[in-house]
Amino acid sequence: MSSGIKSRRPAAPSPFDLNAYVHRCCKEVDRALGRFLPSASTKPATIHQAMRYSLFAGGKRMRPALVMAAAEACGGSWQEAMPLACAVECIHTYSLIHDDLPAMDNDDFRRGKPTNHKVYGEGVAVLAGDALLTQAFEIVAQARGWGRYSHQDLVLELARASGSLQLIAGQVADLEGEGKRLPLSELRYIHERKTSALLCCSVRFGGMSANCTPAQLRGLTEFGYNVGLAFQIIDDILDVTQSSETLGKTAGKDTAAQKATYPSLLGLDASKLEAARLTDRAFKALKVFRGRATALEALARYLLQRDR
Ligand code: IPE
Ligand code: IPE
Ligand code: MG
Ligand code: MG
Ligand code: MG
Repeated sequence: MSSGIKSRRPAAPSPFDLNAYVHRCCKEVDRALGRFLPSASTKPATIHQAMRYSLFAGGKRMRPALVMAAAEACGGSWQEAMPLACAVECIHTYSLIHDDLPAMDNDDFRRGKPTNHKVYGEGVAVLAGDALLTQAFEIVAQARGWGRYSHQDLVLELARASGSLQLIAGQVADLEGEGKRLPLSELRYIHERKTSALLCCSVRFGGMSANCTPAQLRGLTEFGYNVGLAFQIIDDILDVTQSSETLGKTAGKDTAAQKATYPSLLGLDASKLEAARLTDRAFKALKVFRGRATALEALARYLLQRDR
């Protein structure tokens, strides 16, 4: 200070730069994923190229960012959380490769590029998904486990979130719901499982890597559940309101396939209100962190307002 007099006013907290945060997260997660996966030239090269093609196609990396942000909220580090962040992104990418197959949503574009099966053919795309799913568990097996959370807890957590009672259950119900006007409770069942379960697992993983307390884990679970549901509602909304160019995937596909979605059931405005209400609930669940969950708050806010 030029006068030499020290100001008594505490420094204003610097605004949290989510862009920079996610950018740094993407870079570090990409580097770690690159190390965990066999190189593109490892025999059989086709499968490793196909796995890497979708994994490094330019996803938003929101699940890894949630892992990191949750770890920080619990006093942990990115380094400890990194294997778990990579594992959830492998599961997520596998689920997208399979979701895009002609037998499922039949999509030609994903993450701004032709879908995996368009480039490598359906057989290799199925196998690339299988391999990423398996890879996720190989990576989790390399995490070290922390006081309150053993290896077994980590494997169970990921297996349950991605298994036939959660992610797969949601995908099955999503397919079976095509062309039907489902009751809201059934649509919620789908969204809880196909999307919210893995987002919830992501923040719980972050907490576990920081050896979080049971109360913190409860807060993260409530946060992840609500942010996860809001995430899929926003995904449904963006399918109606955005261009394929912005989304990096074909817009308007839900209507064409007669998918059960929030906008088709409630309309756009009520869907937006519901996503906002869920995000509000997610914020409330962060009380237990007493202001130390800055990155989680910023992510929840962004996920509600995102345009892709
Ligand atoms: C898309 O997820 C699939 C859903 C669960 C809605 P994202 O919107 O996170 O996709 P990427 O990872 O950025 O491609
Ligand atoms: C995908 O939901 C959910 C999973 C892949 C588990 P959607 O089918 O709505 O995702 P997009 O719109 O194709 O990304
Ligand atoms: Mg789908
Ligand atoms: Mg789809
Ligand atoms: Mg969608």
